[in-house]
Amino acid sequence: MTSMNRNTPLILIALLLISGLPGKLFSQNPLFIPDTLSGTTFNLNIQKGTTVFYPGHNTNTLGYNGAFLGPTLFMNKGDSVTLNVKNTLPVENSTVHWHGFHLPAKWDGGPYQLIAPNVTWSPKFKVLNKAATYWYHAHQHMKTEIQVSKGLAGMIIIRDSEEAGYNLPRHYKVDDFPLIVQTRIFDPFYQIGSATHEDTALMVNGTLRPYLQVPKQVVRFRMLNGSADRSYEFGLSDNSSFFMIASDGGLLAQPYSTNRLRLSPGERAEILINFGNYTLGQSLYLMSYASELPKGIIGADSVGTSTLLIQDGYYQNLLNGNNFNVLRFDVIAPTANPVTTIPASFAPIPYIPSSPVDATQKLNFSPDFGTSGQQALVDGPFFINNRTFHMDSMNIKTYLGNTEIWTLTNKTLVAHSFHIHDIQFFILDINHNPPPPELSGYKDVVLVEPDDTIRFITKFDDFMDPTVPFMYHCHLLHHEDDGMMGTFLVLDSTNHTINVPENYVGQDGMKIYQNFSENELLIKINSDKSTASAIYITDILGKVQKTVFNGLISKGENEFKLSIADLSSGIYLVVYNGTHQQRVKIIR
Ligand code: C2O
Ligand code: CU
Repeated sequence: MTSMNRNTPLILIALLLISGLPGKLFSQNPLFIPDTLSGTTFNLNIQKGTTVFYPGHNTNTLGYNGAFLGPTLFMNKGDSVTLNVKNTLPVENSTVHWHGFHLPAKWDGGPYQLIAPNVTWSPKFKVLNKAATYWYHAHQHMKTEIQVSKGLAGMIIIRDSEEAGYNLPRHYKVDDFPLIVQTRIFDPFYQIGSATHEDTALMVNGTLRPYLQVPKQVVRFRMLNGSADRSYEFGLSDNSSFFMIASDGGLLAQPYSTNRLRLSPGERAEILINFGNYTLGQSLYLMSYASELPKGIIGADSVGTSTLLIQDGYYQNLLNGNNFNVLRFDVIAPTANPVTTIPASFAPIPYIPSSPVDATQKLNFSPDFGTSGQQALVDGPFFINNRTFHMDSMNIKTYLGNTEIWTLTNKTLVAHSFHIHDIQFFILDINHNPPPPELSGYKDVVLVEPDDTIRFITKFDDFMDPTVPFMYHCHLLHHEDDGMMGTFLVLDSTNHTINVPENYVGQDGMKIYQNFSENELLIKINSDKSTASAIYITDILGKVQKTVFNGLISKGENEFKLSIADLSSGIYLVVYNGTHQQRVKIIR
């Protein structure tokens, strides 16, 4: 903390915090608006580059089709799209996750869909989500924070006929703007860092100290909190109201008039600001009223008490607990045919009745009790249901068509933004109270504050895959990288068998029937002759965990029952060595 360079951004921010000064003392930069890609085929190159954020200093960055961040992708609901994602990084793997999308697990772009250097990954899927603001970002296990911070993130805007029926601003860069809000850590060499709380560099679309000319009319902003761990309490500098019209996965039932909007990492909201109420040439700021954030949320004035937080710069970071400017608006003349009114309402939201449900899941957030006291409750690593993430383990099984209620309980001293892949959910209650208007629509991320319990309802439709899991995790990227993540499989609802023959297709051979409730395997071997055979269970790395049978099997059908209740959860292989060799994947 003694280096000049480290302190420079802090001094800048200290001055920026003093209202009225920024526009006069410091040069502000025109807000960068990402280019767009549209159609049904999208080509994205994951690439390295350098970006100048601080004059005279090159910062190494990552981007899609450019040095930093990525183009905004426009998709239409109902289109079948192909994305060709080429990893041009010389040595690093990456992944691209389509955050908020309902799609097959193998195209999800989570930690299981690694793209190696020089490889092109081409997911193809039908766009099923409603019109709203989504995003794409890197999601490699233990690399998410640094890759997203270096620039691997972009926005996706889905359009549909329902949204098109409302009189809303939708001219990109004219009356409809993306706002990707992020804070970054710069080290003394002006390189982007991770894993500390020294994220003093606030950027919108990668622009420091941005301003934007806005026409004197109703303007739409698509707000994305793309920060590693900071939440924002957005509001206008004159405290006037604006209208929230959409949450993560779709329009609300009606515009919600408010003067504050909280967004935690991963969350999106669309808002309308009526600049018709301002005079030409007037300036105002979009701010974060961080002094109003409840304790425990990263960005607030205090989060538990922990020496690690102090060492990592949390309390020296002037963005924490202080109100600060995010973006200056300069009001200019209206466009031709401006939108001047706010719609009265949108379509009702098709809530899912809370009974009957097919299953319930409980997820408890707790510290790793290996570390002790306040430290663990504030800094983690954090567990979900007492487990840390492992690439080869499976945490939750659900079934195609299931309606489920999930209960999230936070037993730590820090708020976690919970995200689940594949589905959008509806919040049923927060500590037994109905959700406020801003949390009453389509959601895929929700901030769970310390000691809170949140219940949501959802349905697992359309996509099942007995081998490729989806993820749920904390969207605070450092927590996620540290293992605050789990997997779920969506399985066939009528046939509970997970049966994946890996290298054998034939008449005779092994079939496996798995009964989850009893943790029992029924192994059937059909052999065309009597022969010496061995059947055993190995872990994913081939280490034998259990021998099922070793001896002579007879001609015809042979049955073996085997309890796997004593194996820890995970993916295993049942190996049959008889008339031929066969391996079948099972999940405990
Ligand atoms: Cu935005 Cu699993 O991620
Ligand atoms: Cu977390």
